[in-house]
Amino acid sequence: MNRRDFLGHTAAFALTGLALQHPSFSDDPPVKVAVVGTGGRGTDLVRKLSTIERANIVAVCDDYEPHLTRGGEAAGPQARNYLHYEEMLQKEAIDAVIVAVPLYLHYAVCRDAIHAGCDVFCEKTMCYSVAEAQELVKLVQAHNTIFQVGLQRRASAIYRQAKAMVQTGMLGDVFSIKAQWHRNGDWRRPVPVKRDHPDWQRLERKLNWRLYWPYSQGLMTELGSHQIDVANWMLGTSPARVTAFGGTDYWKDGREVFDNVYCIYEYDKQDKEGHSYTARVTYSSIQSNAFEGASELIMGTKGTLLLTERTGLFYKEGGEETVDWQGGEQDEASAAAATITSGKTLSLSNDPWAHRGKPFEIQAGSDSTRDQLISFLDNVQQKDMKTICTVENGLINTASAIMANQAIQEGRTVEFEI
Ligand SMILES: NC(=O)c1ccc[n+]([C@@H]2O[C@H](COP(=O)([O-])OP(=O)(O)OC[C@H]3O[C@@H](n4cnc5c(N)ncnc54)[C@H](O)[C@@H]3O)[C@@H](O)[C@H]2O)c1
Repeated sequence: MNRRDFLGHTAAFALTGLALQHPSFSDDPPVKVAVVGTGGRGTDLVRKLSTIERANIVAVCDDYEPHLTRGGEAAGPQARNYLHYEEMLQKEAIDAVIVAVPLYLHYAVCRDAIHAGCDVFCEKTMCYSVAEAQELVKLVQAHNTIFQVGLQRRASAIYRQAKAMVQTGMLGDVFSIKAQWHRNGDWRRPVPVKRDHPDWQRLERKLNWRLYWPYSQGLMTELGSHQIDVANWMLGTSPARVTAFGGTDYWKDGREVFDNVYCIYEYDKQDKEGHSYTARVTYSSIQSNAFEGASELIMGTKGTLLLTERTGLFYKEGGEETVDWQGGEQDEASAAAATITSGKTLSLSNDPWAHRGKPFEIQAGSDSTRDQLISFLDNVQQKDMKTICTVENGLINTASAIMANQAIQEGRTVEFEI
């Protein structure tokens, strides 16, 4: 029995998805990197960067001492610590800046880093407003900056495999996507002084910036941007319009941003014969119930992909004996996927989809956050502006996330305009 036959006879199997390929540049000097914002995410990025040989962390910056100390310790003794990023940009010879400050500061830090001649990796969501994102596109283009947005699913073996499966027609036509990020928690960081302390207000806003509109766009930019990016990527286009509802209904603790959002996005598409149709994406993010967590369901006429950061599952539609493969680039793994004939019933399962048979499983294999950093460093070393998530992707993502907030706030359907 050859491999193809074997896979064809197996009801379920797992494979490691399409990992990013990284060239090795042993002769290139390491990239001199600085990280601005060593809070939760920034420190995590510092830790991952310190495991990557081609990164040399020369500086870290945070304007809050406890976070700067923590970031500096994670970076190691070779990294100098700064409270002000402007001083850091002036004093240090930096190739690339990693931006992990709160959303409302992304644009200013990226702009100043670009003016200082640095390449930039900016955490999602790229900008607080569409106008800022448009300015950033112009700046990056004018300076030939190598720029990547930190939407790490673009580096994930699971999501890359999923994209290949959608592109090659394994799912049939995708008319619907259902995505969600559900949590049960207050989303708060502890404030080190009591509420009646004169500095409480300042520290509350500093540490819990994501709960207040002047610094954050709430759930849509902090969580939804990841998943709307997946929808845009899988559908190969930007949304045309969105309608949405939401509110601050459960967490009555002084926060301003919504604690639940429900959105319907519409995408204007054309099939191969040139006929127009509308694909729809429903998205919800709530903070009062964590059932089913974070996932995206890509629903095609021939099959469904259930995607999470840990695993991807492919279920064929009932009546589809084999998965129809419409050609395109076929690597060994995805070609093998086309031979699956599931359709067996999981008799002792409480899986509500058991009637569809055991799914085909894609496994992650590696850490997508680390992989996206390696990919960015590759681009910097090769002076290749085509990163896995460009500033133009970042603009579309920013606009897609923010338009849902606008729909909720203004009680109307909002058209996508950039
Ligand atoms: N890609 C992901 O999965 C992911 C996960 C978490 C956070 N993020 C993103 O990372 C960014 C940071 O989020 P976080 O959770 O780390 O927030 P955080 O509040 O923990 O960290 C932000 C840090 O920036 C610092 N800071 C604020 N103003 C500064 C300034 N002017 N100069 C230098 N430092 C300054 C703060 O003191 C803080 O330490 C956000 O954009 C967030 O959306 C991305």
